[in-house]
Amino acid sequence: MSGIKIHPSILCADHGSLAMEIKQMTDASADYFHVDVMDGDFAPNFACGTEIMKCIKKHSHIPMDVHLMVNSPARHIGFFRDLGADIITIHPEADKQAARTLAAIRETGAIAGIAINPGTSVETIKELLPICGHVLVMTVNPGFGGQKFLDFTLRKIKELGTLSREYDFSLCVDGGVSHSNIKKLALLGVTNFVVGSALFGLHDYAKAVHELRGEAQD
Ligand code: DX5
Ligand code: ZN
Repeated sequence: MSGIKIHPSILCADHGSLAMEIKQMTDASADYFHVDVMDGDFAPNFACGTEIMKCIKKHSHIPMDVHLMVNSPARHIGFFRDLGADIITIHPEADKQAARTLAAIRETGAIAGIAINPGTSVETIKELLPICGHVLVMTVNPGFGGQKFLDFTLRKIKELGTLSREYDFSLCVDGGVSHSNIKKLALLGVTNFVVGSALFGLHDYAKAVHELRGEAQD
């Protein structure tokens, strides 16, 4: 089994045919559904919540990776775990007590994830790495699918790629991932790829997921 994981970003699905999108992506053997929860404050958009997660649970057995782009996420951990989140990722920029919140996530049995915005340094989360199972680097500014990958994030991705072997977390990138950069990112140590606009809307999801995974591991 490949160590490369593809996380389709449900934000970029056709929400008019959500059940169908979920079923097709499940048949395509995606690894996780990535659910972006946005509060219109930390991220300049309102997106994905209860009903979408229930719809995923109803139509798929694939685990859910919930990316909380909300301020003060601690109060919502139990809520999202109850909805079926398998990975819960928070932002240190949005949480004054990130270490406490990561511990609370682990206590629910979910994998604890930490995400950093493009402008946030590795130094900010270094002390948290021993208590994380998942690190997500935002490679676009949070809010919307379909943005261009920000190349200046490559330097810290490389640094985190090295640290992932020391601390044993999965390294994930989120934003602007496509055929043109997935190989380069994998070579830096990225194993988990959130993919939105380069996947949804295509004719054959199984082929697309298979190709992306193959390009990353070749
Ligand atoms: C951006 C989100 C991403 C985004 C990915 O705020 O966190 O998950 O939807 O979409 P693409 O792959 O189109 O950048
Ligand atoms: Zn995301």
